[in-house]
Amino acid sequence: MSALDVWLSRSIPMCLLLQSLVLMALCFPPASMCPKGCSCLRTDAHLHLHGLNVTCSRSRLKEIPRDLPAETVLLRLDHNHISAIPERAFAGLRLLRELNLSGNALETLGEGAFAGLEGALQLLDLSHNRISSVHKDAFSRLNARIVVEDNPWHCDCALQQALGGMAAHNHEATSTRVLCRSSELRDQDGQPYMAVDADLCNLAKRTTDYAMLVTMFGWFAMVISYVVYYVRQNQEDARRHLEYLKSLPSKPKRPDDPEDITTVV
Ligand SMILES: *[C@@H]1O[C@H](CO)[C@@H](O)[C@H](O)[C@H]1NC(C)=O
Ligand SMILES: *[C@@H]1O[C@H](CO)[C@@H](O)[C@H](O)[C@H]1NC(C)=O
Repeated sequence: MSALDVWLSRSIPMCLLLQSLVLMALCFPPASMCPKGCSCLRTDAHLHLHGLNVTCSRSRLKEIPRDLPAETVLLRLDHNHISAIPERAFAGLRLLRELNLSGNALETLGEGAFAGLEGALQLLDLSHNRISSVHKDAFSRLNARIVVEDNPWHCDCALQQALGGMAAHNHEATSTRVLCRSSELRDQDGQPYMAVDADLCNLAKRTTDYAMLVTMFGWFAMVISYVVYYVRQNQEDARRHLEYLKSLPSKPKRPDDPEDITTVV
């Protein structure tokens, strides 16, 4: 056997093996694929975080990837163009510990935006977005520290309820960082939320009560004026009727009136 024969006999099976491996990799992707625009790494064992570190920062994402691996423990979606969080968008990520949504275009947070993250989530970064309003239950049952800086918050009843629904230590930490871009109370614009010591929910209730009162008063005034008008009109009619009656020539009584006859009888 020549040296060439030996080389060929060894390299051909090797080539075939490599080729089949490549084909297998192409045809059978691993069970948890990494979403487009993201990188997925196993977390270091020494971090006590067992799962995937998924980084999708600065990937021009317009929405949250749908195919996030279930083993994700760290998820960075910062500096994208995400403008909304669909209901239950993260519901499959039971192990998620940190979620970074900083530097996106979020405007509002719905009731179920973070549903499913109640158990594990410890850190939620929502800073540098355009969030002005949140559903009153958006943060309920979350135990995470929530970063809220640099959002144009509208301080209203729903926000008060959302912050009030958080665990006490988080409530304090989060509330101090909410700056009211606008507020139910006009003179509170630009104030930190914590400085607004009014009960914004009762305020709203009082406003509706007041509106109700004004409306009722309006109706009442209309009814009264109608009644007055009606009575006046009737008086006028009655007076005219009387005058008309008076103006009629009075009938002279005749002795042969049946009534008189009966009285005589
Ligand atoms: C996660 O991955 C990113 C980049 O892919 C890296 O910068 C970061 O340090 C990683 N974090 C951890 C906790 O492994
Ligand atoms: C989220 O990402 C931003 C931008 O990369 C970073 O500055 C920030 O520290 C991260 N947030 C947390 C809580 O780690």
